Amino acid sequence: MSKAIFIRNASQLVTLQGSSNTPRVKGEMSELGIIEDGSVWIEDGVIQAVGKDEELLVKYESRLSEVEVVDARGKLVTPGLIDPHTHLVFAGSRENEFNMRLQGATYMEIMNAGGGIHATTRRTQAATHEELFQQSFERLNQFLRHGVTTVEAKSGYGMEWETELKQLEVAKQLNENHVIDVVPTFMGAHAVPKEYKENPDEFIRQLTEEMIPKVAELGLAEFNDVFCEHGVFTPEQSRMILEAGRKYGLIPKIHADEIEPYEGAELAAEVGAISADHLLKASEKGMKAMAEKGVVGVLLPGTAYFLMAEFANGRKMVDLGVPVALSTDCNPGSSPTVSLPFIMNLACLRMGMTPAEVITATTINAAHAINRGSEIGSLEVGKKGDITIFNVENYMKLQYSYGINHTDTVVKNGQVVVR
Ligand code: NIG
Ligand code: FE
Repeated sequence: MSKAIFIRNASQLVTLQGSSNTPRVKGEMSELGIIEDGSVWIEDGVIQAVGKDEELLVKYESRLSEVEVVDARGKLVTPGLIDPHTHLVFAGSRENEFNMRLQGATYMEIMNAGGGIHATTRRTQAATHEELFQQSFERLNQFLRHGVTTVEAKSGYGMEWETELKQLEVAKQLNENHVIDVVPTFMGAHAVPKEYKENPDEFIRQLTEEMIPKVAELGLAEFNDVFCEHGVFTPEQSRMILEAGRKYGLIPKIHADEIEPYEGAELAAEVGAISADHLLKASEKGMKAMAEKGVVGVLLPGTAYFLMAEFANGRKMVDLGVPVALSTDCNPGSSPTVSLPFIMNLACLRMGMTPAEVITATTINAAHAINRGSEIGSLEVGKKGDITIFNVENYMKLQYSYGINHTDTVVKNGQVVVR
């Protein structure tokens, strides 16, 4: 049995208590449940008590000599950050395309000319399982150093069964071997392979009749995602793919309205997706439909930044009642970063979200976007002992003082893993 941990005297302990069943919306996103001089007792990997230091001291005084004490005086303590949308498992990088885009080429032009997602697919197809594992493991180390304790990870750089399987198996092995929890999503519908350009129906048939059933049978993914975008998968094709996944128990997710408006947000509400992600070009009607159905809007401002596009209207979505979460979208083409704290800063400055909303969006709402709201995302008794300590006195400073990694200590399952 592992030693108990007592994190003591945080200047601000952000608990976010009380939203394990549903994500937070509107004004609730600003209620962080902050305890000043707050402490947490974790044992057997699980949070046992949360409160004022003086209260916990009374409760546990007789056991102080047997625990690891972490002094959080003058620091901010939050639930471990959660990244609910990454393309973690890939090979290579695409700085050449970055350079082309800086000279005026667009993301879709590069993709349609056989680069973009296709370029990473070729690299990922050619990589061995071991190479993919090593590169992705190092990425997870970097996530952890930025305070992230859970990430979602999509396949989608295969476009044929062997490579999709390889990516999902690597994700599984990462989950087993890295302290970060890796939550897997099947995204076979990331692009239409060149050889099926004239016959996308055949590729969709393979996805829905062969790959999705196999993924489900092997238990290799919890979610099924599709790139619903003009020139990639139409809303009708996306609906078919998501419904096929649903039939096999895979929960729908969707890359929606990223480059052009395409009624992706509306589709997410219609199929009851757990989240719709990107939403740069989402319509007001779509946002309202998402709010009504409780579809989490996973916003990825790093992608708008990196593609030099107009940012999603985070402010409007929060005001309309969409439960908003934030993510890096970590991938080699549209957002090569693991810095969730940088994303948090962008959300404030470029999407009109407040620092408090941003904390909610990277903890409890991010947990709900990956169906983990009852396990992680807040500091309350019975939840996993996943905690990040930042070297700032309050939550606003975390986002104000930007481009700096303020992560001081990370506790995962009740163990100090970064210090
Ligand atoms: O979320 N839009 C589709 N997929 C990724 C980018 C993937 C890539 O360019 O390699 C995204 O932006
Ligand atoms: Fe993505």
